[in-house]
Amino acid sequence: MVPACKNQKFIGEAPVVIAGCGTNIEYIMSNGEHTYPIDLAIVLDHMSLQAASLGLGTCWIGAFYQDQVKEILGIPKEVRVVALMTVGYPKKLGPKTERKPLSEIVCYDRYV
Ligand SMILES: Cc1cc2nc3c(=O)[nH]c(=O)nc-3n(C[C@H](O)[C@H](O)[C@H](O)COP(=O)(O)O)c2cc1C
Repeated sequence: MVPACKNQKFIGEAPVVIAGCGTNIEYIMSNGEHTYPIDLAIVLDHMSLQAASLGLGTCWIGAFYQDQVKEILGIPKEVRVVALMTVGYPKKLGPKTERKPLSEIVCYDRYV
């Protein structure tokens, strides 16, 4: 799995790697957007929150080769792998990362 994930070595050390797969990839909402990446983001985000509550660490993995991951896992052509997620007990907790202030990322009333 490591080469398929652009040689991110820590992925080979994780006891579990979850592949988030979209199976209903044709469906488009009336807003013009596909639902499957959104569905998968919800699923994986809930998993990451549950994992954290159990003392587990997770890492979203978007840097991977779609075709290679599908080949390794035997995933059919018509299914899309939206993201991978490693799960495991972290050796140590990373530093708390800085968060941008809301004023930098939220607009009120109009996009400015
Ligand atoms: C969609 C997505 C794809 C990501 N892909 C990778 C990846 O391939 N490799 C990696 O080390 N981190 C990846 N990350 C980043 C980590 O999962 C994590 O978000 C980052 O370390 C920041 O975590 P923090 O906000 O809790 O500090 C990705 C994050 C997202 C949201």
